[in-house]
Amino acid sequence: MATTETNVIACHNVDRTTEQTELARRIAELGEWFHNIDLKGVPTAPRHFLGDFPQVKWKQIASVFPEDMTGATVLDLGCNGGFYSIEMKRRGASRVLGVDVDDRYLNQARFAAETLGLDIQFEKRSVYDIDQIPGEFDYVFFMGVFYHLRYPLYALDKVIKKVKGKLIFQTMIRGSLASPQLKDDYHFWNKDIFNNPDFPCMYFIENRYAGDPTNWWIPNHGAMEGMLRSSGLEIMTHPEPETWVCETTHAQRDGKYILDHELAGTL
Ligand SMILES: C[S@@+](CC[C@H](N)C(=O)[O-])C[C@H]1O[C@@H](n2cnc3c(N)ncnc32)[C@H](O)[C@@H]1O
Repeated sequence: MATTETNVIACHNVDRTTEQTELARRIAELGEWFHNIDLKGVPTAPRHFLGDFPQVKWKQIASVFPEDMTGATVLDLGCNGGFYSIEMKRRGASRVLGVDVDDRYLNQARFAAETLGLDIQFEKRSVYDIDQIPGEFDYVFFMGVFYHLRYPLYALDKVIKKVKGKLIFQTMIRGSLASPQLKDDYHFWNKDIFNNPDFPCMYFIENRYAGDPTNWWIPNHGAMEGMLRSSGLEIMTHPEPETWVCETTHAQRDGKYILDHELAGTL
């Protein structure tokens, strides 16, 4: 190899190392990351307790989305460091809006998108306030948030109003993974059903689970599928044990959403 060529390669390597050192510094400055995102060769959370997270989840759900999402709109609720927002933008979604309540995560998400040159909107907003976001979205991500809420069904019933196409829903699941065969009704004195671990139930965490005081309600499989159906969703696919892809085929009764019926006392 000619000396000039060797020098150019060496200079390029020095530039790259300098850029990566600066990136690593900025990543560290933004606090501890929950999302491991590859920022030009520098991982943001390489020692995550769940492994390469959420890449491990993404691998199982990626096929749900078209490779070319040109024109699609996406709402990412509880977007955290922006992993899913970034994947949607990479597939060409025209508008991606990520919302979260936590400034640390929002700053990380903004930094990640900017570093990767992706135009994504990030907003500080609670899932309880999403009715203030105008319009509906082709894809709504509601991943990893449900069990962090004290009012999970209230939030789910609100989220549904924002879904034009698909809801991608994920929650922590504990207890039975079975799909119970349920009757339409049970006698008041039938107490046996509650001793069946497959019967739909949500575990309430008064103190902490996994060291986290915001883990409030953890459903078993039967309860989660029941709640999704009861909120007016049709389960289209269940690509992995904690994730469901749903559509809002029967989200309204008599032209009104379930949330509005419930709040008006007409359900
Ligand atoms: C376990 S992380 C899940 C992150 C990401 N959605 C995922 O699946 O990898 C939970 C996220 O929900 C956010 N969050 C918690 N309560 C929220 C609320 N009321 N509204 C919006 N985001 C919330 C947290 O700040 C955090 O970023």
